[in-house]
Amino acid sequence: MKPNKLIRLLFILLVVVVLTAAPASRSNSERTQSFDKQIDALLAKMTLAEKLGQLQQLDGEGNGNFRPEHVELVRKGLLGSTLNVRGAQRTNQLQRIAVEGSRLKIPLIFGFDVIHGYRTVFPIPLGEAASWDPAGVERAAGIAAAESRAAGVHWTFAPMVDIARDPRWGRIAEGSGEDPYLGSALARARVRGFQGSDYSAPDKVVACAKHWVAYGAAEAGRDYNTTDVSERNLREVYFPPFKAAVDAGVGTFMSAFNNLNGVPASANPFTLTEVLRNEWKFDGFVVSDYTSVQELIKHGLAANGADAAREALNAGVDMEMVSRLYNQHAGELMKGRQLSQQTIDEAVRRILRIKFRLGLFAKPYVDEGLERGAIFNATNVAAARELAARSLVLLKNDNNVLPLNKSIRSIALVGPLADSHKDVLGSWTGDGRPEDAVTLRAGLTSKAPQTKINYAKGCDIDCGKRDAFEEAVSAARVSDVVIIAVGESAEMSGEAASRSSIDLPGLQLELVKAVQAAGKPTVVVLMNGRPLTINWMAENTPALLETWFAGSQAGNAIADVLFGDVNPGGKLPVTFPRAVGQIPIYYNHMNTGRPPDASNKYSSKYLDVPWTPLFPFGYGLSYTKFRIANLQLGAQSIRPDGSLTVNVELENAGSRAGEEVVQLYIRDVAASVTRPVKELKGFQRVTLQPGEKRRVEFKLTPEHLGFYNRRMKFVVEPGEFKVMVGPNSVDVIESSFQVTAP
Ligand code: BGC
Repeated sequence: MKPNKLIRLLFILLVVVVLTAAPASRSNSERTQSFDKQIDALLAKMTLAEKLGQLQQLDGEGNGNFRPEHVELVRKGLLGSTLNVRGAQRTNQLQRIAVEGSRLKIPLIFGFDVIHGYRTVFPIPLGEAASWDPAGVERAAGIAAAESRAAGVHWTFAPMVDIARDPRWGRIAEGSGEDPYLGSALARARVRGFQGSDYSAPDKVVACAKHWVAYGAAEAGRDYNTTDVSERNLREVYFPPFKAAVDAGVGTFMSAFNNLNGVPASANPFTLTEVLRNEWKFDGFVVSDYTSVQELIKHGLAANGADAAREALNAGVDMEMVSRLYNQHAGELMKGRQLSQQTIDEAVRRILRIKFRLGLFAKPYVDEGLERGAIFNATNVAAARELAARSLVLLKNDNNVLPLNKSIRSIALVGPLADSHKDVLGSWTGDGRPEDAVTLRAGLTSKAPQTKINYAKGCDIDCGKRDAFEEAVSAARVSDVVIIAVGESAEMSGEAASRSSIDLPGLQLELVKAVQAAGKPTVVVLMNGRPLTINWMAENTPALLETWFAGSQAGNAIADVLFGDVNPGGKLPVTFPRAVGQIPIYYNHMNTGRPPDASNKYSSKYLDVPWTPLFPFGYGLSYTKFRIANLQLGAQSIRPDGSLTVNVELENAGSRAGEEVVQLYIRDVAASVTRPVKELKGFQRVTLQPGEKRRVEFKLTPEHLGFYNRRMKFVVEPGEFKVMVGPNSVDVIESSFQVTAP
């Protein structure tokens, strides 16, 4: 090529690079722009009442409408935000009063719990986590954002990034399970999906990392219960997904309900200010949880409303959800010098900053024509089906009962969840509607129209009686295959839904036993918001498929997997115990001085139940067979600031295309503080054709190898590290390397 031709080509290339890079950098800077000048100008004009108005969030009516009393408050500039008010027309109506009828024309921010979908409902977050597919989860959050913004919602109270090690706690359904690494990857994915690179876009919303913090450590798994968590566990287990959300640019946080080490999370200066603001430099705002400021009185941290407002505001909670103590008491607290003007101004500033970043001053209204096309459209519904199928976990498949052949003549479909529209949506359904949901019965019928479906419910979810068992058993007798859908109702997990037993409710297991006794190949489809104790089925039922609550497209997605159109590749994001008495049981535990040893009574175990889980973290089967072999490390030793590649050979040794989640774990063998027996530090969901082999590579960096030492400093210490790779947290191959002294 001639030199001037080359120069021309390079110039064109440069122009292309600049042009394609420009919008991204512009929008990124929008998200981090501080809008300080505009905010200063507004603050200078605001009365104290107007400032306190910005700190107030009130609840709408259950149906999405605002309350009559909001109108006057908004007109006077005394309300900054609502929750649950939604719908393009209704939000515009109230917004118009704020923007055209109030003195300073400050727009409202409309919040709503868009947890796993707005109208198109995706699997519950625990189910999405089982996909081990951050890209898919990001896409789902993106769709939820587009649907909600079109309906006038600016702000979702998600992602919920609480680590949960106790399946009795119903809110385990709302998070990503027990692991901080997987939880962090999904926190990032959800924040990116909701916010994009610029949440002023008409299809994005600002996200809220909640519940800050350690809410999932509720004692005895009882919701709202007290928590006592060491700083090490906070930093290494409970903080990381929140930090990941901050790094991904999350705009808001929600302070949790729980008491944390004696100082409730909604008034905790260490977590709200020292860590979040000073260490992590978070510049968005913190909203309390629902009346959690007022609840400081019942906690016993505050003697009265004024105390509660002072504690929460001074600790760093900027906006008060539902209770009105800031508004009622800030004036008197300021007079008594218990609260400074600067604290109020800073809280207002943070809230206005997010309103500016959302573009609400420039474009306060939503286009009322958008809602119809953006919500529950065919693309969104197809994405929900795809992610739902990717979130299913095959727990057992003896004798290849699954996948089913489409030419089978008849299926007995049994169980209280086989045809339930409402339950498959799980808890927090946004604006999702049961009538949109595809049940398992409907999914099977459309997948295999030639197959006769003999449906018999057997009993309701609480399953108190055996009256209808016989009908179910008869259906089984006359069918080629039996599918039994059992589990929990949607209300049995989620908020305020803790259970002391995590068995199948009522007589459901008896129903399974009775139907299985008909002797037909039997598949149990589980629907639930938490791990269940399912020992009998794990031992005796030929095939078990965990489907969580899979959302609007549940039935289609489950049918896709049952009939093999989709080869299951989901993995458990949480340990399944054998007995409630083992809880808390999680894979990344510390060792003991006397690790479990079957031949030694004086080792750490139980007399009445094995110490091992029923199904370990990371577990899940496929219709094909994968082999992981030949673990290679890039070096035998590295310096503390060095990094290391790890690679393995993955082979699809079966006869179908399939997906394996290759998981990388490490163990720091001896350190200045004891380390977990295993910690996830990498994963990849890989698709392989039959017979295909591929090397899967990971990189370990100081961020993966470090921990908080005795002085709470993050360090990588010299010594031996084990590296383990496998298809779950138990069946691993291993190698090791050394970190040398610096
Ligand atoms: C829950 C939050 C939720 C809020 C608003 C509270 O009861 O704990 O997760 O975002 O209500 O609905």
